[in-house]
Amino acid sequence: MASDSSAAPDPLTVGRYTASTVLVSADDLQARVRALGEEITADYAGREPLLVGVLKGAFMFMSDLARAIDLPVEFDFMAVSSYGHSTRSSGVVRIVKDLDLDLAGRDVILVEDIIDSGLTLNYLRRNLLARNPASLEVCALLVRENHKVDESILRYEGYRVPSDFLVGYGLDVDEKFRNLPDVRIVKVASDEAPQGSEGEVESAA
Ligand code: IMP
Ligand code: MG
Repeated sequence: MASDSSAAPDPLTVGRYTASTVLVSADDLQARVRALGEEITADYAGREPLLVGVLKGAFMFMSDLARAIDLPVEFDFMAVSSYGHSTRSSGVVRIVKDLDLDLAGRDVILVEDIIDSGLTLNYLRRNLLARNPASLEVCALLVRENHKVDESILRYEGYRVPSDFLVGYGLDVDEKFRNLPDVRIVKVASDEAPQGSEGEVESAA
């Protein structure tokens, strides 16, 4: 996770949020995503996987990942919101935008930005498995060290990360910082915890 030593990252402040500490550099991310794409290309040789991205956080990862997969892939997206008001997900998930495609008989790869508690993932897996795909695997860019899901369902993962709230490369705090090319730790200038958009009712992950 070494960052480019030639250019120290500029601290980035938007409102009361500051994202100055780079956890994963843009170069490291690109290399890791390429490696994941190569792994998927080898594992799915002869098949046409369907990538299912969870909006909004996974959009950037999914876009780079898809270009690193040397197979005919198809795409679909879903958007979920979890009930609750903090950065912790409650596990009670509502589908805000459902898939357009039929999963029956398809080799589905669920693409997620970050598995935190894993409650969202557990819900989504159950939901997608009920649609009878030929196979269902999970590809998550980031996975918390203290997640609470069965390790065996995490087929493809980019990095294990600590519990700090992270932004960039699709991840947001309050809809900010999604366009950063790297992943950073965000600090908030008050006593309040950062409000992840996914933590609020009616907002998409
Ligand atoms: P889980 O249900 O606790 O695993 O929460 C998963 C979702 O919460 C992720 O898909 C993200 O949308 C969001 N999330 C969790 N941690 C972070 C973070 O550090 N930054 C931004 N979003 C996060
Ligand atoms: Mg998400």
